[in-house]
Amino acid sequence: MLKIITYPAPILRQIAEGVTTVDDEVRGILDEMTKCMYASGGVGLAAPQVGISRRLVVIDPAEEEEDMGKTVLKLVNPRIVSSSGKLVWSEGCLSLPGINADVERNDRVTAEALNENGESITIEGEGLLAVALQHELDHLDGVLFVDRLSRLKKKLVMRNYLRQAGKHTEE
Ligand code: CO
Repeated sequence: MLKIITYPAPILRQIAEGVTTVDDEVRGILDEMTKCMYASGGVGLAAPQVGISRRLVVIDPAEEEEDMGKTVLKLVNPRIVSSSGKLVWSEGCLSLPGINADVERNDRVTAEALNENGESITIEGEGLLAVALQHELDHLDGVLFVDRLSRLKKKLVMRNYLRQAGKHTEE
């Protein structure tokens, strides 16, 4: 089972490497990432969050538990090609456990990627899916949701996180 890497691990700040061939190894990683995402209760997971610095993302935007697994997206080398609108969403991150903050992002995005069979696909997302695409793709560039906050808000949120993370290590 893959293990979630938490901040301040340096891999979370690295630019992940593009995938050249979608082979069984890549499919295996995507499957393990999907299991890890469900086990952790996340909406999405990017490979750097499990210690793999490659451009792989899984997302399941199902809003009802019974729909989970039907709507999972396994994306290789995803990139956002267009975006519009604004929304504010209360975000959290498996790599920053215990904190949430309102983040402003685009309300609609179109992304292109390869699927697990190496075929080109286009995903149009709005609302939760748009947020998840932006949040997870940010991870591939070493960007965390707290980086999208104002400087003051980020400072407050990170102070809470580090205080709480410190408590964890003491326990
Ligand atoms: Co995250």
